[in-house]
Amino acid sequence: MAKQILTLNAISVKGLERLPREDYEVASEFAHPDAILLRSHKLKSEDIPDSVLAIGRAGAGTNNVPVADCSKRGIPVFNAPGANANAVKELVAVGLLLGSRGIVEGIDYVATLANTTDKAELNKTLEAHKKEFKGSELVGKTLGVVGLGAIGSMVAEMALTMGMDVIGYDPALSVEAAWRLSSQVQRADTLSALFAKCDYISLHLPVLDSTRGLINAELLAAMREGACLLNFARQEIVDEDALLAALESGPLRKYIADFPSPGLIGRDDVILMPHIGASTEEAEDNCAIMAANQLRDFLENGNIRNS
Ligand code: MLT
Repeated sequence: MAKQILTLNAISVKGLERLPREDYEVASEFAHPDAILLRSHKLKSEDIPDSVLAIGRAGAGTNNVPVADCSKRGIPVFNAPGANANAVKELVAVGLLLGSRGIVEGIDYVATLANTTDKAELNKTLEAHKKEFKGSELVGKTLGVVGLGAIGSMVAEMALTMGMDVIGYDPALSVEAAWRLSSQVQRADTLSALFAKCDYISLHLPVLDSTRGLINAELLAAMREGACLLNFARQEIVDEDALLAALESGPLRKYIADFPSPGLIGRDDVILMPHIGASTEEAEDNCAIMAANQLRDFLENGNIRNS
């Protein structure tokens, strides 16, 4: 009998193709599915039917799945670490540039000139205002990368190619991962040492009890004057009250994040994106393929692997 896979988000066709029609039925409603495949749907434990044998998360983070409850119930949760790392890395490159140049302000200003129809007048106005949008270059600046997993290590390598000095911090880094990382990535022994030395800091950590609110008042106060914080991981990692204080009267010049937060929207010193780090065709395909492959390997062979 075909196995039933309940999808709680639209899953890329390339991922679904890994579940052959003769062996699998895939639908967004099933009373007794064999497995669940989802992207960012917030799944509650009570919504997981007893028939479910495994869950595939077509994404890197598993904070939208009740993993601890699943473990108690013997339900493995497969995610797709690294499958969207390139997409996130590319958006972090944008984030660094948004932090270093007057791009947002410049684009917003140009939009105010929509009614200026005379080209010469337009050029004259732009010439007069251009200096307001002057930035600085990334070459020679120092980027701190907190978390050197799949995404963080790619960000670190990318920043090196942009001419930045890079300092990484990751107490849980495996020997193999450390060995793969460029020797040009310097290592900080403590988070506070990293925060004190960097012009830009990019966070690449999962939300865990140990990372929730990790970026606190003390660390933010220790930043270099005029530093910029990038958060393309999860909002919960940063203590928002401390962040606001660091923006208001501390050393933090700009906060750039891939999630809107009500307390931060509309500030000039904050740039917020709608959680689009992994929103590329390629990343969605890669994540869905990885999650579907793992589900299939488990349902057909009982194998538990996480890649
Ligand atoms: C991830 O965890 O994979 C990214 O944050 C994107 C997403 O939530 O799907």
